Amino acid sequence: MFSHAMPRIVLARETDWDGWRAATRAHVLAGTPPETLTWSIGATTADPRPEGPFPQAGGSFGVPRALVALAAQAIQARAPDRFDLLYRLVWRAQAGEPVLEQRDDPELSRARRLALAVRAEAHRMRTHLRFLALLHPTPTLYLGWYVPAHFVLEANAQLLARRFAAQRLAAPSLAVARFAILTPDASAHWDGTNLHFGPGLAATLVPNDVALAAQWRDYGPDILAAARIGTAIPQAEALDEDPRPPDRPPIGPVVLPFQRDSALIAAAEDASACRRCPLGDKATQTVFGEGPAGAALLFIGEQPGDQEDIIGRPFVGPAGQILDRALEEAGIDRRTIYITNAVKHFKFTPRGTRRIHQTPEAPEIQICRFWLDVERVQQRPRLTVLMGATAARAILGRPVTIGRERGRAFRLPDGTQGFITVHPSFLLRVPDEDSRAREYAAFVADLREASRIATEVA
Ligand code: URA
Repeated sequence: MFSHAMPRIVLARETDWDGWRAATRAHVLAGTPPETLTWSIGATTADPRPEGPFPQAGGSFGVPRALVALAAQAIQARAPDRFDLLYRLVWRAQAGEPVLEQRDDPELSRARRLALAVRAEAHRMRTHLRFLALLHPTPTLYLGWYVPAHFVLEANAQLLARRFAAQRLAAPSLAVARFAILTPDASAHWDGTNLHFGPGLAATLVPNDVALAAQWRDYGPDILAAARIGTAIPQAEALDEDPRPPDRPPIGPVVLPFQRDSALIAAAEDASACRRCPLGDKATQTVFGEGPAGAALLFIGEQPGDQEDIIGRPFVGPAGQILDRALEEAGIDRRTIYITNAVKHFKFTPRGTRRIHQTPEAPEIQICRFWLDVERVQQRPRLTVLMGATAARAILGRPVTIGRERGRAFRLPDGTQGFITVHPSFLLRVPDEDSRAREYAAFVADLREASRIATEVA
């Protein structure tokens, strides 16, 4: 029987969407107020149902589809209060409150921010994930390692499994059959037909690719034995990925070493405590550049935005998504470039629950140049791509009219090559559709030209 003493719901795992839904449904119908419920995660178990027994009240209720879709994304956030937060929103919605229409509602704003952070991290995982190809035993196993900021492995593994399957259809002779993606939280395994989810590996065990392959050799069989079959998150609601047009073939596994420059790893550590200017006092964290050592192309933006500030990585929010699309159309794999910002902290003014971007000023750009120089000296790129006026000013030390100077290589004061183009967020602000399409095409053409120059300089 259901007891009325403080119901405690124990979900099977961090992304136990079915469990959260079942518990929410039962408790809303039974009239359990949010403040009397506690939510937690149980020990890993093969049983996906949350701990019961649930109250048995009959009946039904409806909440807007958009709220269900929001919950399906926000539940993947690495935020311990999310189960409670989402229950509260459902509780209020079923009582007839138009929660989705209350723009400044703190609970709705928080859920939206969590969902946005999840989408950004899911996208980032897909654009950064690369694999080691283990050729024996056949068929080839593509082994990936990633440390996600949120619990995006399961939904992303579903998308990747579809891509692997599509690639196989497009090129049947290709023996792309299996992948395993390991993360510290969990692992996903595609055997060519089914997706399985198993335990993860501690990040300390995987300092580099060699260790990853060795860990897989030693623990792969155990991890596979503990894996459960299934998909925890409904695909349509969990992540939205634009359908790929037929002229853009499915992206397959990319195998390349991802050795980060060790001096830059140390510099990023130092920069995390940077207080050379006051911007670090308000920002969540320093967002340092990222990319493989020795990348031929180094891209510089302005400063991290709201999403980058939360996740701690450059270009993962809306501007990053446009940039990723343009890079792909220009034939540049984002996993091969180094990408950073002129200023390493998010500058903003709070407005209600929102944080409004503010353009950094000359002294902030000048002070942060210290870190940009560290990155450029270490990376020694063949070409530095300056995206927008702040990046151009940071490197050239003078105001730059982008329209006049974009699209061609020129010598930088240190003797290396530079190249100016627009900032991707400029494309988000172009008001009419035709001009936006024209500007986007010009941006892609610039990126193609930058790639050509970088290859030529080699
Ligand atoms: N805009 C930038 O200039 N950099 C980012 O990282 C994100 C948005």
